[in-house]
Amino acid sequence: MDLGIRGKTALLSGASRGLGKACALALAQEGVNVTIVARKRDVLERTGAEIAATTGVNVTTVAGDITTQEGRRAALAACPAPDILLNNADGPVPGDFRDYTRDDWIAALDMMMLAPIEMMRATVDGMMARGYGRILNIVSRSVKIPQLELALSNGARSGLVGFVGGLARQTVARNVTINNLLPGIFDSDAQKAHVRALVTPGGKSFEELWRERAAGNPARRYGRPTELGAYCAFLCSEHAGFITGQNLLIDGGSYPGTY
Ligand SMILES: NC(=O)c1ccc[n+]([C@@H]2O[C@H](COP(=O)([O-])OP(=O)(O)OC[C@H]3O[C@@H](n4cnc5c(N)ncnc54)[C@H](OP(=O)(O)O)[C@@H]3O)[C@@H](O)[C@H]2O)c1
Repeated sequence: MDLGIRGKTALLSGASRGLGKACALALAQEGVNVTIVARKRDVLERTGAEIAATTGVNVTTVAGDITTQEGRRAALAACPAPDILLNNADGPVPGDFRDYTRDDWIAALDMMMLAPIEMMRATVDGMMARGYGRILNIVSRSVKIPQLELALSNGARSGLVGFVGGLARQTVARNVTINNLLPGIFDSDAQKAHVRALVTPGGKSFEELWRERAAGNPARRYGRPTELGAYCAFLCSEHAGFITGQNLLIDGGSYPGTY
């Protein structure tokens, strides 16, 4: 299928590794010129060079923290009028909500809710004026299946999807769609860090926990980042203009409900 996005421009944060990188690569394979943002310059530059070499599109790299105003300014200076925006960054570390301070909550809101909203605020009107826009937020299944050890994610990410539910209905008539991708367990650095944080002295080892999580999924495995990248590319395609305001699980069937 020709996705109809060759020559378009995409701005992707959190795109040097894992799910964000897979999205950048999938879009680049469809001929989209990509600007990718992440904090660690060396990894970012390697990823940028890899995407450019394998796809031939223009790749711009921006080393910065998307949760800060400075990072967002740098990203938007490099790609002021994207056709496609992917909002992605870190997730929170697991913990007990009793230990979180107000500052922890504000940092979680900055990362998982307010940074994506600021990026949408800066780009959505231009997309509407030009008559094409695809915005995706990488969120988490935690907004549909609360994760007991991830209170910060359950709370802050729900704020983002609630906001998107309203905005998405105001932009789609101008061919600007906004959707949230809700990953289940994917084999990535973040997933490994999450499982490492669940290891307790005298408890199960990392390897045991890692295997158990895969065995507990109906697919009996972790998702592959390339699978999420392909979904992202379709949702950013010209064919996906009637899909908006959706919270789209990609989780091997781990969400137990019918609806
Ligand atoms: N993997 C899963 O199973 C899973 C499941 C549910 C939800 N999620 C969520 O999906 C998102 C991506 O997960 P992942 O597994 O792809 O993580 P990952 O492999 O750790 O990759 C995260 C990417 O985001 C970049 N990044 C992190 N914080 C950033 C910031 N403040 N500004 C700019 N770039 C930033 C990282 O590069 P730098 O470190 O160099 O900045 C890296 O490129 C996370 O929010 C995670 O919680 C993942």
